[in-house]
Amino acid sequence: MAAALGDPVRHALESVLEAVRDRTDGAVATYIPELATVDPEQLGVALASTHGVVHEAGDVEAEFTIQSVSKPFVFALAVDALGLDVVRRHTDLEPSGEPFNAISLDEASGRPRNPMINAGAIVMSSLMKGDTADEKFAVVRDGLERFVGHDLVVDEEVFGSEASTGDRNRALAYLARSAGTLGSTAEVATTAYFRQCSLIVTARDLAIMAVTLATGGVNPVTDERVVSEDAARWTTAVMTSCGMYDESGDWMVRVGLPAKSGVGGGIAAVQPGQFGIGTFSPRLDHRGNSVRGVASLELLSQRHGLHMLQHHGPPLSPIASLTREDSGDTIAVLRGEILFSEAEEVLTRLAPLVGDHGCLVLDFSGVTRVGDGAKRVFVAAPELVGQAPDGRARVAVRDPEGVLGD
Ligand code: DON
Repeated sequence: MAAALGDPVRHALESVLEAVRDRTDGAVATYIPELATVDPEQLGVALASTHGVVHEAGDVEAEFTIQSVSKPFVFALAVDALGLDVVRRHTDLEPSGEPFNAISLDEASGRPRNPMINAGAIVMSSLMKGDTADEKFAVVRDGLERFVGHDLVVDEEVFGSEASTGDRNRALAYLARSAGTLGSTAEVATTAYFRQCSLIVTARDLAIMAVTLATGGVNPVTDERVVSEDAARWTTAVMTSCGMYDESGDWMVRVGLPAKSGVGGGIAAVQPGQFGIGTFSPRLDHRGNSVRGVASLELLSQRHGLHMLQHHGPPLSPIASLTREDSGDTIAVLRGEILFSEAEEVLTRLAPLVGDHGCLVLDFSGVTRVGDGAKRVFVAAPELVGQAPDGRARVAVRDPEGVLGD
């Protein structure tokens, strides 16, 4: 569902595009010859919310190849299918501080430094189910289609162009193969990887893929679970530390959104629990990151306080009211979402009120959710169990919606 015209979020996106439109520095990628033919002026941004609305500005329907933006999503498919332990036998998860095409294999283990650089991404493609490149690519395409929510098509010109010039990637695959970390032959792995990189997407698609990580693995437009919550969190973590290659540290300070760029000009950025953003602008900086994509995300983050470590002021107290009744009972009305820190506040502030006389009533009727970590804190609170000397409970719980579970 596209947002209506007049949407204020769309205006915010348009305003950012206008602010960066004049940037003409950088250059389109030419090492894959077909990429040199794109119109460098294209510029688009889309923001997808966790409730499945997409706000768009600029060239959001413009098509380009996904390239390295595919890498975190294929990593997500790999850890979802095989588990983190198995995948970690094939790749490290450390920032390399090196360019995306670096010959980055650990001397002792033979593992690539991380799955966001080419060496690690080729290994991820090789781990997909199947024996042939076609079978492995079919698993990749099916997974990426579920992230996007529609069918995806390969740009055969870009594929052919990369396949005929991709010897450095083949060299990386052979090195990984000789170190025992590749899950197939080098030719199978690189063919599947080149096809993966040549899938055609839009900025809108990247926003929806990113928000599917932000929701913990559920595409909010199709409502389909694509990967597990663990897989989504691990992927977002790797994007945080490694997604922008040797700019990752600086990026986290300035922009503060886990992200992944591609030499096709796309960037996907995730704000966990909140939204996903896709940008498209083909001219790249010397690290292979889109110049105007980076500038747009930096400006959006700064203008609208989107940095994931932004401090937004003290949180709302989970204790909405405390009332002492004539009976001697105290009613504590709780509200909102109770996670670990809210449970800590509830217990720390209310435990002194649990006495031998009167009952402390914890009213959860205004609570929307109690996280598992918070439930463990409640269960472990010894002050809240047991009975007063008169045989009455010292603490009672009102939980009409059953937010506490069993
Ligand atoms: O393997 C390559 O070189 C390309 N298919 C993808 C590289 C890429 O997108 C790097 N990202 N900024």
